[in-house]
Amino acid sequence: MSQQTNRTANTSYPVMNAVAKRWSPRAFTERDVSKQDVGSILEAARWAASCFNEQPWAFIVGTKDDPETYDRIMSTMGEFNQAWAGNAPVLILAAAKATFALDGRDNAHAVYDLGQAVSALALQATELGLAAHQMAGFDPDKARDVFGIPEGWSAVTVTAVGYEGSPDTLPESLQAAETTPRERKPLSEFVFRGTWGTPAAVTSKA
Ligand SMILES: Cc1cc2nc3c(=O)[nH]c(=O)nc-3n(C[C@H](O)[C@H](O)[C@H](O)COP(=O)(O)O)c2cc1C
Repeated sequence: MSQQTNRTANTSYPVMNAVAKRWSPRAFTERDVSKQDVGSILEAARWAASCFNEQPWAFIVGTKDDPETYDRIMSTMGEFNQAWAGNAPVLILAAAKATFALDGRDNAHAVYDLGQAVSALALQATELGLAAHQMAGFDPDKARDVFGIPEGWSAVTVTAVGYEGSPDTLPESLQAAETTPRERKPLSEFVFRGTWGTPAAVTSKA
């Protein structure tokens, strides 16, 4: 019997639909993602803002019809993520470039920019009825080896993309996390005014 999950964020202010609906499932159905939709999520990443418009990102896309790439990404994953991520029909490895193309200076915001691009990707996925689950649990050095990632670039995350599946398709140890309530710190813990730690007025709804 498949469980129903309602993962929509319980927000303290209204937010756009994709923000409320985005979450990170570990259960995926076998349904493939169309080339059109894979293109749309990468296009959303493409249009992210970045420092000096450097666009310091690159993506390696593994789909089930390209098992060579897909399996290479899987081979970099940690044991915990390997237990579920292989159910997702699309795995996207994201890499950041450490220096500016213009003058070779260190780009301290490269990973920040990559994160914005992946965030746009995840929101676009949500908008399309897909789910995207980002992961740090993989081996960037192995990714460098298997994909020939050049010096100056670093693999930062892998994102699993697909259609959300039923928790009961997962190993038992992973099922509960699919349905437990989603939690966030209140705004008052991280939105300040005046001095650090003083909650801004906007954090309390009078
Ligand atoms: C950079 C990053 C790394 C993450 N690494 C993993 C991971 O290795 N394995 C995993 O199952 N989830 C991973 N997650 C998912 C987070 O646990 C998840 O986003 C967080 O618990 C909030 O849940 P939500 O995305 O459903 O709102 C990662 C998320 C981010 C953004």
